[in-house]
Amino acid sequence: MSAIMDLLLFNIGELATLSHGDVSKPLSGTEMANREELIIESGSSMLISQGKIAKIGPEQELLEEFAPDMENGKSNLVELLNVNGAAIIPGLVDCHTHLLWSGDRSNEIRLRQKGLTYQDISNQGGGINKTVISTRKASQKELESIGHRNLLQSSNYGTTTIEAKSGYGLSVDSEIKILQATASLDGINHNVLPTWLGAHDFPKEKKPSEYMDELIHEQLPLVAEKNLAKWIDVFCEPGWFNLEQTETLVKNAKNFGLKSRLHVDEFVDSGGLSLAAELGSCSADHVGFSNSDSRDKANKSGTMQVFLPGTPYVLGKDLGEGIQECLENNWNFSLATDFNPNCQTLSLPFIASLATHRIGIDPLTALVACTRNPASTLNDELENCVGSINVGGPADFNILNAKSIDYWCQTPGVSPISKTFFSGSIVKSY
Ligand code: NIG
Ligand code: FE
Repeated sequence: MSAIMDLLLFNIGELATLSHGDVSKPLSGTEMANREELIIESGSSMLISQGKIAKIGPEQELLEEFAPDMENGKSNLVELLNVNGAAIIPGLVDCHTHLLWSGDRSNEIRLRQKGLTYQDISNQGGGINKTVISTRKASQKELESIGHRNLLQSSNYGTTTIEAKSGYGLSVDSEIKILQATASLDGINHNVLPTWLGAHDFPKEKKPSEYMDELIHEQLPLVAEKNLAKWIDVFCEPGWFNLEQTETLVKNAKNFGLKSRLHVDEFVDSGGLSLAAELGSCSADHVGFSNSDSRDKANKSGTMQVFLPGTPYVLGKDLGEGIQECLENNWNFSLATDFNPNCQTLSLPFIASLATHRIGIDPLTALVACTRNPASTLNDELENCVGSINVGGPADFNILNAKSIDYWCQTPGVSPISKTFFSGSIVKSY
């Protein structure tokens, strides 16, 4: 059996290591745009060994040390990859997706154009419960192949670590089926981290109080016993789960060892972010309508605010001021896709394009919000700390189609990436 050779990348353009300070911690405010600390100028080289970053340093030094016999771009001692001056960024981290569901709700755009709200559409038989009907009919195998197809998209746009929520089953069997399908996807081309979102909506066949009982006494114990999720999520919004129900669910889940990441303040400020901070949730997501006091409180308690601008974009709404407010106040924040039947994108470069082209944030800031910051909410559940490029860390990174890292979010609708590496292996190459 021949051992796999180490890989030496040379002729690298800008290298966004994002590895300033303690890489397990998020960055905020001007730290997120600090090019001197976060980017190495062109001329470095990177050695990959056994799935990890083994060394980063000046190109001449590394070539002399590891490929002294180099001739015509080849060596017998190490595999060589000439990156042709392209920029490198970390593997992207998508910390909020509804990865597995079946069916189609594309008709809802015409309903929205007629003036119906998200709540109106849901009340008329569309929305989450419509996707639940089709997802319940899909077998676990079918969901697995849907998952493979979706993850191919996510790789195409450079994501190497992805959170995946259940939530389109809303029954014991269907929620377990979705989570089991999710588990089968982990470790192939991504780290796939599962969240139990049984509390995404109330199923049509049950009274709310009956469903709350099912969540607490049937779904939760089974999810925990089978170790199918790391977090609980709740759609905490007027018309769905209220603050009291959310608190009850999160506290019960805590007793079973589950942490929380919550959907809050998507349509109105109902105090969801404030509750997430009090409950010590890892993240509070959407947060479009949260007030400044809650944002401050969340930052103090270590609850990451995750903005999902793809959702207001597809719903025809304003993208809001929350991201700017976080930047101005040095409050941590992240970005994610919220891939779901309404918002069908698994492209973080596209989401970051909304943030740069429409909200006005710096491309490097957007990169930190799609790598190191979301990773800080997931790293506890991973063997190695992801979201940055540093020696000893996993070799999860992307080679761009340009020399400048700013390019990473400047090609909306087209992938900016030429090669994606996950644990040292190429998962995508054009
Ligand atoms: O995060 N808001 C709740 N859940 C999803 C959308 C679910 C759906 O419309 O199917 C979200 O946007
Ligand atoms: Fe969501």
